[in-house]
Formats: sequence, structure tokens, C-alpha cells
Amino acid sequence: MGGIKDLLENNKLWSRRVAADNPSFFADLAGQQNPDYLWIGCSDSRVSANVIVDLAPGEIFVHRNVANLVNHTDMNCLSVIQFAVEVLCVEHVIVCGHYNCGGVVAAVDEERHGLIDNWLRHIRDTANLHAAFLESIDDPAKRIDKLCELNVAEQVVNVGETTIVLDAWDRGQELSVHGWIYGLKDGQIRDLDISISGNDDLKNLRDRLLFHDERRGAVRASN
Ligand code: CO
Repeated sequence: MGGIKDLLENNKLWSRRVAADNPSFFADLAGQQNPDYLWIGCSDSRVSANVIVDLAPGEIFVHRNVANLVNHTDMNCLSVIQFAVEVLCVEHVIVCGHYNCGGVVAAVDEERHGLIDNWLRHIRDTANLHAAFLESIDDPAKRIDKLCELNVAEQVVNVGETTIVLDAWDRGQELSVHGWIYGLKDGQIRDLDISISGNDDLKNLRDRLLFHDERRGAVRASN
């Protein structure tokens, strides 16, 4: 097992390597950041935003928390969204969940995990909302994965319903919110095909989730 000092050593080697490749890389980035994307993902150490979409520092603005939740009372998440939308003017917000998410599992396993259960309560609400559909899935692992997808979809709606995004659309700002899900087993991201780019899309997605109809493809990974 590597010690904490290894991280500092790694950093030294990495920064030298990057600078050798592109001598002005850090100087350019220090001037300003200009990312096109805001990533809202899970804190899970296996789902590192820059790594899985292969982007360099400066290319993606990131917010992560347990189970990639967006709540309208979470000043941390809202502040990130506001800065990304109003100052950085990102054109895309990506909510990326992942299959077999520990937070999603813990939300519905009927056990107590301490304080975090309050945070995970939001996923419990999503599970209750889609209870009839979820109960129709026999395989417990598949049921969890479907809840992971639905959780992403609900967060896409939550992003769209923030005052920040609604105001941006009212101003005519180009801004899309996307729902993706990452497979830990194959390293691949699936597009859930629930992107929204305005009020009509938002209403549509909200209706699709409200009148949950899987046969119409309410939420389904595209590959
Ligand atoms: Co997770």
C-alpha cells in the first residue's frame, strides 16, 4: 500500500510530464478556466469525471456527492450550478450516475447507516414514486440498476427545475441537461436519452417520469 507521500511524488512527476509535453499548459490554465461542461456525479472513487471521459484539467467543471443528487436546498450544489451556468456559461450539464451505486443500494436495503440515511432519503422517495414498476423487476441487481437510472432521470429534472436553469432558458441561453449512466464493469457510459434543452423538454421528461411508462421508454440506456 502506497503512503501519503506517494501522492506528492506522483504530483511532481505528473506536473513535470505535462509541462514537458506542453510548456505553457499550466500558465495558460492559471489565467482562466473555460470548461464547456458541468459534471454532476457520484463521489465513488471509481467514477472520476475527468478520467472516464478522458478530459484534461480545465475542460470540465465538477460537482460530486454520494449518489449524484441535486436538491433545491443544497447550497453547495446550487452554487456550483450557478457558477457553471452564469459565469462559465457551460452549454452542457451532465448528471452521470453509475450502476450498482452504493448510495442507491443503501437507500433501499432496509438497514440503518447513520446520518447518510437522511441524504439517501431522496432516493428512497424516487423508489417509492416508481415502486410499482420497480417491484415488477424480479432480479434484485437489475432492480437496483433501474433505480440508478431513475435516480439520474429525477436529478436531470431537479437540475432543470432550479431557478438558475429556468432563468438561463428564459434569457435564451443555450443550455442542455443530460442524463448518463456509467457501467463499473465495462467502463462505458450509456446515454439515457433524457436530455432537456428548455421548458418543453423539462415538462415532457417530468410527465414521462410521473406517468412512468417503461414501454414508452421512460428511461432506458441506449446501448
Ligand atoms: Co455511487
